[in-house]
Amino acid sequence: MEQVSVTNLVNFLDQEVELWGWVFNKRSSGGLIFLQIRDGSGFCQAIVDQATVSAPLWADAEAITMESSVKVGGTVTAHPKKKGEFELQVKTLEVVQIAEEYPISKKHHGVDFLLDHRHLWLRSRRQWAIMRIRDTVINSLMEWLNQNGFIKIDSPILTPTSCEDTTELFEMDYFDMGKAYLSQSGQLYIESAIFAHGSVYDFGPVFRAEKSKTRRHLTEFWMLDAEMAWLGHADSLKIQEQLIAYVVGRVVELNQAELEILERDIEALKKVVAPFYMITHAEAVKKLQEMGSDIKEDQDLGGDDETTLSKEYDKPVFIEKYPAKIKAFYMKRDSENEDLALCADLLAPEGYGEIVGGSEREDDYEKLVTRFEEFKLDRKDFEWYLDLRRYGSVPHSGFGIGLERLVSWICGIKHVRETIPFPRLINRLSP
Ligand code: 4AD
Ligand code: MG
Repeated sequence: MEQVSVTNLVNFLDQEVELWGWVFNKRSSGGLIFLQIRDGSGFCQAIVDQATVSAPLWADAEAITMESSVKVGGTVTAHPKKKGEFELQVKTLEVVQIAEEYPISKKHHGVDFLLDHRHLWLRSRRQWAIMRIRDTVINSLMEWLNQNGFIKIDSPILTPTSCEDTTELFEMDYFDMGKAYLSQSGQLYIESAIFAHGSVYDFGPVFRAEKSKTRRHLTEFWMLDAEMAWLGHADSLKIQEQLIAYVVGRVVELNQAELEILERDIEALKKVVAPFYMITHAEAVKKLQEMGSDIKEDQDLGGDDETTLSKEYDKPVFIEKYPAKIKAFYMKRDSENEDLALCADLLAPEGYGEIVGGSEREDDYEKLVTRFEEFKLDRKDFEWYLDLRRYGSVPHSGFGIGLERLVSWICGIKHVRETIPFPRLINRLSP
């Protein structure tokens, strides 16, 4: 018998095939045993009928435990009730391994227990759906960028300096050369590549030693940084909204089944088309104050502020032009008000908050030198970065997308820890 995948059963109606997979549930009724099989591609019910199988096969089926691995062969039939689903009328059964008593049962488990068993939890239906959507998100981000003239440039993970907040660095001894730090963002490195390629992006793990214990924070997460030569702040926002709208559209197109498993409101995702909303930081502060927040004009939005604000919108919203002193050193200033940065954070709607952070970059050598002084950074560490303003400097902009924040919004998952295979949190390093 030919081995086929669950998704391919549609092409084998009334034929005999084999499914190789795991039994995630089992139920019996009279002379029938229903094996719920999962093969990676999907889920299928295999029916063992005592009246049609041999006594040893029936005994094998009876002995099967949850998560046992099996090769089960039989005739493909259409599901009597669910359109588009198929069942297997079992004729052969090979038990590859009888699983020991599986720790994750149908009863309710606390999230700590589930995270301790993350290596097994990944098999469950919801987790399966999330990882498949994560895969679509990764592929479609790269698809759009590749179709729009971007080149992928990998940035280093071991770095001699900080890119963002210096208080959130993981540091280590680097042979006899002093300290090395785990990258917080590849931005500074891919900035150098725009002078060779125009538009570039990187995608990889980044690290923040943030002592934040919130539903939005991981200490290791995946970031896609993009950087574009000759592009100003406003045009960069256009790229961001097209990219995010494309990704959401692809998930809606390709992951209908997964979104249904997650009970995601698909209509809300269908609304995500360009243009997105846009307000300034000053307007956001005013709005938040009216809604009861104690945020001040010169402050960054706190987690609760982001939640409150993003609940007000049915599409992502850009918050632009933050006070420069609360943002990173590399941001270009607004020519109309030097106290403001030409930057924007993109907040996902439905209470999700920031998913993208970006800005136009300071391209003037002298101004950048003063920024190092203002931000108390040792210019010596950034001489190479200053070179980019010495040799053919051009206006340029870029942004960084936090993959797990994006996936958690698209999936409608509250906490980012479920959107990465093995989450790293301030209180979790295993498995
Ligand atoms: O806003 P951030 O800190 O921006 C940068 O690092 C820029 N250098 C990016 C650039 O311009 N190329 O981080 C970018 C995104 C945030 O919008 C958020 O989605 C995500 O990274 N992020 C986190 N995700 C999970 N856990 C954390 N601790 C995160 N910190 C930031
Ligand atoms: Mg940010």
